[in-house]
Amino acid sequence: MKAARLDSKSSRSRHGCLYSGKLMKVLVIGGGGREHALVWKLKQSPTVDRIFCAPGNAGTAAIADNVAIPATDVIQLRAFAKQNAIDLTVVGPDDPLALGIVDLFNADRLRIFGPTKAAARLESSKIFAKELMRAQKVPTAEAQTFSDSNHALDYCEQLKFPVVIKADGLALGKGVIIASDRAEAKTAINAMMNEMSFGDAGRRIVIEEFLRGTECSLHALVDGKNYRLLESARDHKRAFDGDEGPNTGGMGAFSPANNWNPQLQTTFETTIMQPLLEGLRKEGVAYRGLLYPGLMITGDGPRVLEFNCRFGDPETQALLPRLKSDLVPLLEATIDGTIDIHAIEWDERASVTVVLASAGYPGKYETGKKISGLGEAANPEAVQIFHAGTKVDNGEVVTAGGRVLAVTALGSTIKAARERAYEAVSVIRFDGCHYRRDIALSAATG
Ligand code: AMP
Ligand code: GLY
Repeated sequence: MKAARLDSKSSRSRHGCLYSGKLMKVLVIGGGGREHALVWKLKQSPTVDRIFCAPGNAGTAAIADNVAIPATDVIQLRAFAKQNAIDLTVVGPDDPLALGIVDLFNADRLRIFGPTKAAARLESSKIFAKELMRAQKVPTAEAQTFSDSNHALDYCEQLKFPVVIKADGLALGKGVIIASDRAEAKTAINAMMNEMSFGDAGRRIVIEEFLRGTECSLHALVDGKNYRLLESARDHKRAFDGDEGPNTGGMGAFSPANNWNPQLQTTFETTIMQPLLEGLRKEGVAYRGLLYPGLMITGDGPRVLEFNCRFGDPETQALLPRLKSDLVPLLEATIDGTIDIHAIEWDERASVTVVLASAGYPGKYETGKKISGLGEAANPEAVQIFHAGTKVDNGEVVTAGGRVLAVTALGSTIKAARERAYEAVSVIRFDGCHYRRDIALSAATG
């Protein structure tokens, strides 16, 4: 009782509002821009007392306690959650989900946000996702799956190009190759299936139809039965302006998406979300967590490119600054199967996120470069600087990864948000910094 009273007092003083329930300790798993945005948003909840981030970055260190456990060390993470009486764990990246972190935590009655290993196969096995979509007639690219490289190589003889070749398993976003001719297709098949360039992830592959259109990212909080959609967003996957260069983890994002509308949303819900969840139920799989279908908006409507079983990066950095509702009750309702009784409130303003990357990214890059201008660039009302690959070294913030920062600005229009984001970017400096100059440009009219 005494502890609870003290807790609610500290909540009132820190957040300026009265919260009489038990204050929570939250653990966020991961160390990128998405996780900094999650920590930033969760920290605003009057229900949260303390946040840990494993392993975190310099941005999370400034507002939470970093814990030196890698996101894939699911056993140590469970031990940490137990020892520290963590009330809620939120999983950022895909690999711990595929390793079964949610099953492990559930077995120990530790509350965790994310799908089980079986449900996370939607992302960790492209073949599982394809088969489910086929069974439920969910619109997606026509595809064939192969576990024998000779069959895949033979199949190339009868194809029209381009085609898309995908490793079945998780490959750090690099397991998708768009082959513009037969030679490229064969090289990709050999690399994945014979040279094992993605390890086990490429043992089986999918060869699919190349879809034309524009991409859109939808995020849904799925509670096992019902779901709530978050606002739409768009990602920029290629490294350079004009969608040139290699694929990356994402060089920027904006929300709302300019290629989305209520009619597409209705089609998406009736032809994709509902049949998909129905298909999972038939398989005996209850999906609880964030489901983010990556869509191609084609002339025939939305078609699924892939499913992600976690928040998008950098979409999260664009979405969460627009989210007015407290995130904690939404995550809890997703776990408890009560998301249908929650409304989600959004800031009407648009957001634009620009990613600042190290020279060489997504290839080889150097780290340890001093970052300046962070304080000057931030503006709590309209500009958030989310850290990704950063760390504190001798009291200074230095680069520690490929994607270094995600700068998000809000504005009355995409154009206004975009101008504000680039203004903030212009005062941040580090050796070799590169970023796209055309994030959200297609949506910045008027
Ligand atoms: P994925 O990891 O499956 O989302 O693929 C990464 C990126 O490859 C997507 O964001 C698209 O830009 C592209 N892509 C994947 N599948 C296709 C497809 N069937 N047609 C065209 N582009 C695709
Ligand atoms: N934004 C792409 C991803 O999170 O997979």
